[in-house]
Amino acid sequence: MTQEGRLERLTGMLRRRGFLLPAFEIHGGAKGFYDFGPVGGRMRSRINQRWLDHWLELGNVVELSCPTITPFAVLEASGHVGEFSDFMTQCNACGEASRADTLLENHHPNPDALKRDELETLLHDVKPSCPACGAQNWSDVSAQNLMFNTSIGAGDSGRPGFLRPETAQGMFTSFNALFRHFRERLPFGAMQVGKGYRNEIAPRQGMIRLREFNMAELEYFIDPEAPLDDDLSSWDSVPLTLISEGNETASMTLSAACKKELIRHSTVARFMGITHNFLVDVGIDPKRIRFRQHEQDEMAHYAVDCWDAEIEGSYGWVECVGIAHRGCYDLQSHEEATGKTLRARREFDEPRTTEIDGWTINGATAGPAFKARAGQVKEAVEDLPKSTAFPYELTLAGGDVVVVEPEHVKANRKSIKETGEWYLPHVIEPAFGIDRIIWHVIDHAYQETEKNGEPYTMMGLSPSIVPVDFAVFPLFEKDGMDDMARQVHQKLCRTAGVVSMYDGTGSIGRRYARADEIGVPLCITVDHQSLEDGTVTVRNRDSGEQHRTNPESLA
Ligand code: ATP
Ligand code: GLY
Repeated sequence: MTQEGRLERLTGMLRRRGFLLPAFEIHGGAKGFYDFGPVGGRMRSRINQRWLDHWLELGNVVELSCPTITPFAVLEASGHVGEFSDFMTQCNACGEASRADTLLENHHPNPDALKRDELETLLHDVKPSCPACGAQNWSDVSAQNLMFNTSIGAGDSGRPGFLRPETAQGMFTSFNALFRHFRERLPFGAMQVGKGYRNEIAPRQGMIRLREFNMAELEYFIDPEAPLDDDLSSWDSVPLTLISEGNETASMTLSAACKKELIRHSTVARFMGITHNFLVDVGIDPKRIRFRQHEQDEMAHYAVDCWDAEIEGSYGWVECVGIAHRGCYDLQSHEEATGKTLRARREFDEPRTTEIDGWTINGATAGPAFKARAGQVKEAVEDLPKSTAFPYELTLAGGDVVVVEPEHVKANRKSIKETGEWYLPHVIEPAFGIDRIIWHVIDHAYQETEKNGEPYTMMGLSPSIVPVDFAVFPLFEKDGMDDMARQVHQKLCRTAGVVSMYDGTGSIGRRYARADEIGVPLCITVDHQSLEDGTVTVRNRDSGEQHRTNPESLA
């Protein structure tokens, strides 16, 4: 079979076999929304679970589940209200909205990094064709916030809110609960898999740009002063393709990239390694993975360094994971907005004494001046900074105001002994787009061959994430073969973690083909011999080999 039309045949198969279906289709559909169908739903759950399992191996990570509807104040504090936008332009002929940077992909090496006026100039210069009508006439470029807004509550008491654009914010606002849970010791992480929503300007390319999508994110809180000593040795024999800032491509180990300071933090490097392991584990071809560092002007508003894991597939190279060093941006922003502290404590090796210059009262003059309130005035004066100018109006507890004159005070040096300090943790965040990963898993697993002169398709999915583990067939649905096949199927269904499918229709060859098409690794056939000796035939998807076994030994 030729490569031509492969994408069309693949998407047709995914729809026909119930992997992925356009949502609400009987009502005309809605752009950017997909259903995971009877086959895809299970595969999505398995990939989510594999993702959780990979990160749980760190040993200091917990799973959270936060609301998807988020109050305005939270996303205002996080910077999303002000900053979370893409640049949009509209076709002056047909009105189609497009992302300006997407239209310019063939005309600039990294249009995502361009400012509004740069995009506008380039757009008007090169005049790309409208993907809908082909015209080359674009409106000016404007910023479009990507969040869906909603109202929380009814009528006048309704408060503005948004559908979350990332799962991360709920994990930042839960920092104090996490800190208590981990007995006040960093590093630790919180992760969640769940929906994210972005009102994308132009959803297209199937699963790549959705308006509601499945995210899997880990927020890993670290002490910024801790040594950069993550163990990267397990990737020492796995050179990765790295495209660092400035578009330099190299095949390099993570240890070497850290030594050369291409990767600026060893935890970012370790998470790139874990990301690589996960992607390969779920079936992504390692030769089609690369990591690309963001340019300084391409980075999200919160990030100080970011590496994307990109996967090559039918749509070219696509970002599927972002691994960002978010610094203390988020915790600090929520602190400033709420007045609540979101800090961790660092103990010193030895207690530290700090000398602080300030003021105290001059007993000889302040005593007679403030009489019974002299003690209260002393306490308040000692809290004033050295820069205070006198006379100074001091408000005492209870609201009384007294004027402290220069002769009432004298300079004072206090020694403060401290055993530790409170600080804002930094965050390293791997953010995975599960839909884009599922698309590439399918794209890499989909094989088109020929069998007996006919086109034949097979999905070579990794057994860890297949939607169905076993397909059970009676050779014929008669003579008790169907009853026995149903019993084998039911028994498999009752086995924890196993998914089995019963199929009794069509020729046995057609049933094998249907199972291969959705990637079932093992097919079990109940035949005449099964009725006599209780054994069944097991056929392996990849090798086509068959052997007889007792069904008890299957799972
Ligand atoms: P892009 O530049 O493609 O819009 P992004 O840089 O905005 O992506 P992030 O904000 O880093 O993406 O989101 C984290 C991950 O979520 C991405 O790596 C991607 O896999 C996924 N993702 C983001 N937007 C979408 C979307 N509209 N549809 C499906 N997945 C998405
Ligand atoms: N939380 C990462 C992102 O949404 O970009």
